[in-house]
Amino acid sequence: MKKYNKSFLVTGGTGFIGAGITKLLIKKNFKVKIFDNNSRGHLNKFKLERKRFKFIKGDIRNRKQVLRACKNVDAVVHLAYVNGTKYFYKEPVKILEIAVKGILNVIESCIENNIKELYLASSSEVYQTPDKIPTDEYEMLKIPDIHNPRYSYGGGKILTELMGINYGKKYFKKLIIFRPHNVYGSDMGNEHVIPEFINRFRNLKGKKFKIQGNGDETRSFIFIDDFVKGFECILKKGKHLEIYNIGTDELVSIKQLAFKLAKIFKKKIVLKKTKLARGGTKKRLPSIRKIKKIGFKQNVKLEEGLKSLVQQKLYD
Ligand SMILES: NC(=O)c1ccc[n+]([C@@H]2O[C@H](COP(=O)([O-])OP(=O)(O)OC[C@H]3O[C@@H](n4cnc5c(N)ncnc54)[C@H](O)[C@@H]3O)[C@@H](O)[C@H]2O)c1
Repeated sequence: MKKYNKSFLVTGGTGFIGAGITKLLIKKNFKVKIFDNNSRGHLNKFKLERKRFKFIKGDIRNRKQVLRACKNVDAVVHLAYVNGTKYFYKEPVKILEIAVKGILNVIESCIENNIKELYLASSSEVYQTPDKIPTDEYEMLKIPDIHNPRYSYGGGKILTELMGINYGKKYFKKLIIFRPHNVYGSDMGNEHVIPEFINRFRNLKGKKFKIQGNGDETRSFIFIDDFVKGFECILKKGKHLEIYNIGTDELVSIKQLAFKLAKIFKKKIVLKKTKLARGGTKKRLPSIRKIKKIGFKQNVKLEEGLKSLVQQKLYD
């Protein structure tokens, strides 16, 4: 019988980031189970690896299902969540239900199954309007307007972290929180700015190119392969109850992003500015000093990543 290093459960494992993490774990000779309801994820992200993990279809809100999935597991990576900004506005109750029941079910199932190692996906959205840019992990977390449904997502992540840290102290040996900052790559779903722009460039007739806000809003994007390397650093060297930003310090404005893609597509554009969604983040840039200290390095520059994406895959 094959001997494995350790056994992992990945919730949300058929999603964009989950598939990357699952492939890494398989490569590192861990035994892997995925728990996902496939509301957004799908199994055809895996080709060679498909036979090398067990897939459990289930809902993270269902306590019994999560409890069962956690049997004979040594460590859990919890990613299952609703992603995509438009859903924050449209389905705040569902987002909060998945956040609250999800984290409670995961933590309680770990406790009941004596699992001592848990990795929790948080988000850059917990910073909202940070006081410091670049923003380090010690920044105050905020919900700027309790009435704005957008903050269902960030609020749910703040709660995930709060529970993670407090239960972590009492019940776990290694509980680590990571905050991804705008990860991009193929198969990421269409509800993000990069695939949305690429899709529109593919079908662009004329020069007018619509953007949300005035284009001066800034982001830093991290290519999925680099993100997975960042996660690997956490796996190897991350410390109990610590929080790590995973991102890059390659700052780009939305305007620059549109022009970079226009150049790749060899199209001339004129930007048409529209209103920024209520609560939309104007500036986002993580401090990545902490993750660098445990070995992280950005390998794929934005331009390179965009080019490979444009060549690689049609988003449908
Ligand atoms: N992609 C990013 O840039 C980014 C940034 C910040 C945080 N994150 C966080 O990282 C994690 C993974 O994000 P992603 O980009 O891979 O998103 P994704 O939507 O591709 O993956 C989420 C997965 O969770 C599953 N899921 C949703 N609801 C579920 C439920 N009720 N029960 C079981 N499974 C359910 C989906 O089917 C999907 O496979 C999420 O927690 C997300 O909030 C991602």
